Amino acid sequence: MIVIDPPKSLSGTLRVPGDKSISHRSIMLGAIAEGDTAVRGFLHSADCLATMDCFRRMGVRIEERTDSGPSSEGRSDESVLVIHGRGLHGLTGADGLLLDAKNSGTTVRLMSGILAGQPFMSRITGDASLSSRPMGRIIRPLEQMGIRCVSEHGDGRLPISVYGGRPKAIRYASPIASAQVKSCVLLAGLYADDPTFYTEPVLSRNHTELMLGAFGGNLKTRIQADGSATTILYPGTILKGQSVTVPGDISSAAYFLAAGLLVRDARVTLTHVGINETRDGILRVIQAMGGDLTIRNVRIEGREPVADLTVSSSKLHGTVIGGSLIPTLIDELPVIAVMAAQAEGDTVIRDAGELRVKESDRLAAITKNLRSMGIAVEETPDGMTIHGGRLKGARIDPLGDHRLAMAFTVAGLVSSTPTVILDESCVRISYPSFFEDLRSLT
Ligand code: S3P
Repeated sequence: MIVIDPPKSLSGTLRVPGDKSISHRSIMLGAIAEGDTAVRGFLHSADCLATMDCFRRMGVRIEERTDSGPSSEGRSDESVLVIHGRGLHGLTGADGLLLDAKNSGTTVRLMSGILAGQPFMSRITGDASLSSRPMGRIIRPLEQMGIRCVSEHGDGRLPISVYGGRPKAIRYASPIASAQVKSCVLLAGLYADDPTFYTEPVLSRNHTELMLGAFGGNLKTRIQADGSATTILYPGTILKGQSVTVPGDISSAAYFLAAGLLVRDARVTLTHVGINETRDGILRVIQAMGGDLTIRNVRIEGREPVADLTVSSSKLHGTVIGGSLIPTLIDELPVIAVMAAQAEGDTVIRDAGELRVKESDRLAAITKNLRSMGIAVEETPDGMTIHGGRLKGARIDPLGDHRLAMAFTVAGLVSSTPTVILDESCVRISYPSFFEDLRSLT
């Protein structure tokens, strides 16, 4: 439990930890590449460590080294993760190999694509939250690829068994914009003999495609006139180990962007934040709400765009968030809802039904917690309307969901009375040093 008291001001410069999505992918692609992959800026959070454990169990050697000498960002003694790749067909495991994805949806869904191409059967389990989340979305395309994939209780949830083999190429049209499903199919497609086509209604985060390209994969994406996106992966790829620099996670930066806008007398700079256009929706929402945001030093690192972001205290107003914007800010919606709670007027969020199947039912949890903090909210099946007002302190149960714990900590920074966050330790899932970083700005 932690008590959040409103600070007098908030100021300073922070480099948030590495991007979670990119960190997972660096381990996975590093593991199935030939040769070594060196990763700088890897996120040592519980989710990414779950991926690391799973791949170590499949015979992949992963070491931490210290790189002395200045890095591109002027830091020395940076820790570097070295993954000794085993090639596409080099993972090892006996039939029945048990892999624990813990709380991490990215681990189970992406890894299943790789397991589809291995010559053994593996069983994937997870914690109670992950075991309640839908896996039919990856089971269906994998089965179309000819891979037997069984949900043990027959309910499309974990544990699942993946009977690895030789995936067949498919043309798959996904009804949802999900980077996890897309990545699962593309990774399985690496083992197929023909091109794999994957179409999604809107381009979801494309870190897998960018990293596959950097590792020597042959793929391309085209955006259709209706906004849908088709990615084609060509067969015959041999991935080669690379040097990867992981940008700061915009989903982690989001809490400090919101805090810097909402707290009085605040000015916060976040350096080296990934601003890939499939992830930058929060920046567009801040601008639409009238927030004071400056984007500086835009540069490309590896294949990912990165920038330094500065925000200052602002008077925000309500906005409408829906459609193709949603996949670009899906994980930021809890903290965006907190911004909306302090804004003038109404904010409408729609087309965000996916929030019901994240680490918790985030639409229900945001509604309940904002109401307990004195804000009027109407919940809809795929979103909510938030009537901006004045937050007051409350006891918040984050339900073990890291993004709720951090979003409602930000709410606590601007409430009229102290806020209590019950069991805040879940921040370890994506941002273990969150509270230390917050303290450094107060
Ligand atoms: C992720 C994709 C998103 C996101 C999740 C991470 C990824 O999930 O919410 O936190 O790394 O591919 P979906 O693919 O289910 O939308």
